[in-house]
Amino acid sequence: MKTNEIREKYLDFFHTKGHTIVASDVLVPKWDPTVLFTPAGMNQFKDHFLGKVNLEYTRATTSQKCLRTGDIENVGRTAYHHTFFEMLGNFSFGDYFKREAIHWAWEFLTDKKWLGIDPGRLTVSVFLDDDEASDIWHKEVGLSLDRINRMGEHDNFWPAGAPTDGPDGVCGPCSEIFFHPDNGPECEIWNLVFTQFNRVGAPPNNLVPLPSKNIDTGMGLERIAATMQGASTNFHIDILRPIVDAAADAVGIKYDANTENGRRLRRIADHVRACSMAIHENVYPGANKEEYVIRRLLRRAVLQGHEMGLREPFLFNLVPEVVAQMEQPYPELRATVDRVAQVIKNEERNFFGTLDGGLARIESIFGSMKSSNQTAVNGKEAFDLYQTYGIPAELFASIAEDRGLQFNWEQYKEAIAQHAIHSGAGSKGVMGDFGPIDDIKREVKATPFLGYDQTKTNSIVCGLVEEVLEEIQVEGEEKVEVKKFMVAHRRAELSKPADAATGKQFVVLEKTPFYAESGGQVGDTGVLVGPTGRFSVEDCQKNGDVFIHVGQVLEGTLKDGDSISANVDEPRRDAIRRAHSATHILHYALQQNLGTHAQQRGSKVVDDLLRFDFANLEAIPGNQLANIEKLVIDKIQVGGSVVAETLPLEQAKKAGAMMLFGEKYPDPVRMVSIGDFSKELCGGIHVREIADIEGFEILSEENISSGTRRIQAITGKRATEFQTKVRDSVRRICETLKVPAVEVPAAFSTLFEDAKSLRKQLTSGKKSGPAISLAKKAGFDPTSLFSSGSGKPMAYAEIRDILKQVAAKLNVSLLEGADRVQAMSLEIATLNDQLEKMEQTALNPDDLLALSEKIGDFSMIVAEIPNADANQMKTVIDQIRKKNSRSAIFLASKQGEDKVILVAGMGRELVEQGLSAGEWIKSIAPVVGGSGGGKADLAQAGGKEVQRLEDALAAAKSHLKSVVPSA
Ligand code: SER
Repeated sequence: MKTNEIREKYLDFFHTKGHTIVASDVLVPKWDPTVLFTPAGMNQFKDHFLGKVNLEYTRATTSQKCLRTGDIENVGRTAYHHTFFEMLGNFSFGDYFKREAIHWAWEFLTDKKWLGIDPGRLTVSVFLDDDEASDIWHKEVGLSLDRINRMGEHDNFWPAGAPTDGPDGVCGPCSEIFFHPDNGPECEIWNLVFTQFNRVGAPPNNLVPLPSKNIDTGMGLERIAATMQGASTNFHIDILRPIVDAAADAVGIKYDANTENGRRLRRIADHVRACSMAIHENVYPGANKEEYVIRRLLRRAVLQGHEMGLREPFLFNLVPEVVAQMEQPYPELRATVDRVAQVIKNEERNFFGTLDGGLARIESIFGSMKSSNQTAVNGKEAFDLYQTYGIPAELFASIAEDRGLQFNWEQYKEAIAQHAIHSGAGSKGVMGDFGPIDDIKREVKATPFLGYDQTKTNSIVCGLVEEVLEEIQVEGEEKVEVKKFMVAHRRAELSKPADAATGKQFVVLEKTPFYAESGGQVGDTGVLVGPTGRFSVEDCQKNGDVFIHVGQVLEGTLKDGDSISANVDEPRRDAIRRAHSATHILHYALQQNLGTHAQQRGSKVVDDLLRFDFANLEAIPGNQLANIEKLVIDKIQVGGSVVAETLPLEQAKKAGAMMLFGEKYPDPVRMVSIGDFSKELCGGIHVREIADIEGFEILSEENISSGTRRIQAITGKRATEFQTKVRDSVRRICETLKVPAVEVPAAFSTLFEDAKSLRKQLTSGKKSGPAISLAKKAGFDPTSLFSSGSGKPMAYAEIRDILKQVAAKLNVSLLEGADRVQAMSLEIATLNDQLEKMEQTALNPDDLLALSEKIGDFSMIVAEIPNADANQMKTVIDQIRKKNSRSAIFLASKQGEDKVILVAGMGRELVEQGLSAGEWIKSIAPVVGGSGGGKADLAQAGGKEVQRLEDALAAAKSHLKSVVPSA
């Protein structure tokens, strides 16, 4: 029986038993911070089990995409381990329990109409004291007692070992069904979990019966397919074997199951399938969390290929085969074959580029470990290896294991902590959340949201929570310590926090107009006004379907049960609407200009500000970005209406709504149509008329991770303000350069070159042209700066373009341009001045060199420079040192009646011979009643006795002669 047929039969079977067929959740459930990837079919139903949501159905069945990496070392080695796999499951939320679950499992497995497995090949296990389950199997199904094994909590409880080891939360005994093939060991094919307890704390008496009992079953699709197809390993079933064979083709060998290469090919097949499924859902290989897991998987697969002699990307060639095998249940895979292959190829190329170097480094680490009798790889070194060669530590650890070496994970974690990089495993809890918010959630289940039509409503407070800083005893390894934690408490009343020991306060309302952050749109802010107090809402977040208003009491008190009025900050909400609708239009414009691959990968919508991440491998060239921006602006100018409607998912698909991979949509779904060009499935809040967006401007386009670009843009008021700033900047530049806007690029170019040339003249000590003047050009009219060549007023885009050119040349951000141009014009004035002075004081290095006196093969220059200041003398000393590295220079200058400045310098070769300008000046400064010093190459001193300047110069000469050995 084909795998696809088994999947369909399973869902059909449970459908006939009154179950709703629910679509698989996505691989990375963003709503669930406790896991990186969906680990089991029950994950999407956690809140259903805990009674935290309103139940639309009490029986569900799914085929769930799962990814687990806990047993990754076993993948390819054993018959049944995978990273990506599909799990068939049926679930009851307070509906049926053990009897039905067991009978239906048996019926599905053994009835000819369904799988028709020979009952003689099946045995079961139950939890030690679960007589109820044992009786159903024995007395009702008819299994003899020798085919019912009783096992402990590590085998027959889920989560495994939960009563003793935790985690806290819902759990229960389970019953497993095993298949016994002719040859080979028994194989567990189905796990029926009787979720009937809430574990609270350590044993004993820690299993509290749940008010309603639940069922959670899980059957690995690949395993049952292997059973039905008589395959000795999952990798030989109809949907996996072709991928293994394709891997063999890509490597250029024949697949032989029982060889080391056979194991490698199975690993490649598993990993490339897992990565293709994840990348399809927009989880690209990267540095953190789930992206890091995908990177690790891909790199492990590359390493397998490398071990078989490959040195070029090859995995990407397997993507079409993966899609061919997986597209029946997931037809959407077809749309992204090329993108997925391209992402894999890029990652492969990068890794192949550093892999040889990395492996050589690993060998040398192993070599030195051997000579120093070290048996565990230093985790810090492994971290450096990842940073330099991109070899994930887990990969290093498994290479080490193959050589019989250990790996010091503690050191590795320390190194990561120091670099503040999170490889990001999710927290351990499987089903936790038993805080005060969760209590409220169990009571209210869902908050009706009225904010699509209203920003102000009357409502009733139905839950208050407050965080307080508390001292808590924590048991350390050696002693009990007291630490401070923010702990949340449910309250009947909240008042204004007295001090910082009170953290955030939370309010749950019977219904609300406040939008809770989701789909990238930030939460609303505003105020709740009650009979005896006011609460400032600083954010609104969703916990399941319950809206949590986060903030603080402003004055008075807020009580549970108070009738209040809830008021959203309307101007801010309007600005959020503008940014959200503009985000959809930008999405449309990106797809029009770049292609349909440019799909949303993330977004953040704030008031009149948006950040949009999308798939694209390269930077968008400037002119294309301008076209994208222009298309958005055109759409805003043309106008039209924005309509939101709720309709069946299928109908929305037919209407052409954009669907994002890696998103799971509810059914029915809300569709937002903007004009006749954009249709997106979206729960956010939008403008009613496109023209209300007012303005749009792209601020930046940048890379954020491989294959993902980010655009930041502004709308409405922010856009108008920004445009005013741009105009003002250009106006200021015009005034500085004394030209109209059209002439700015040319005039600025001249200014830029002039500044360069003046700086060069000053460093070379040679003035080579007339002073540069910023005199007003003929015809400059400060009242009409923005008319174009033909006399028409310039469009905003042209004005901004001028500023862009200036800012790009200066390498500064747009709004810094005007300041920098002004600074440059002031610099020109100063440079002119300095050059002027240089001429007057005849501070010319060549003239001074001509005065030099030879001492052995040294050139000594000792001179008074009238009117020079310290900087000028230093500059000329630098110039002389550059021209003659065996020169020793000592210059002095009177500053008025009571001050003398001395500056000394040594050429490079003299410094190398041990002479020091610092020492020289230190011994001469006292002659003029001063002191000073400095470095060996340049030093400065000051004195008061102007009349002794001559003596100082004479002393400088004789001092130098005395220290120069060859003199
Ligand atoms: N949650 C159980 C498991 O993962 C049954 O679905 O095995």
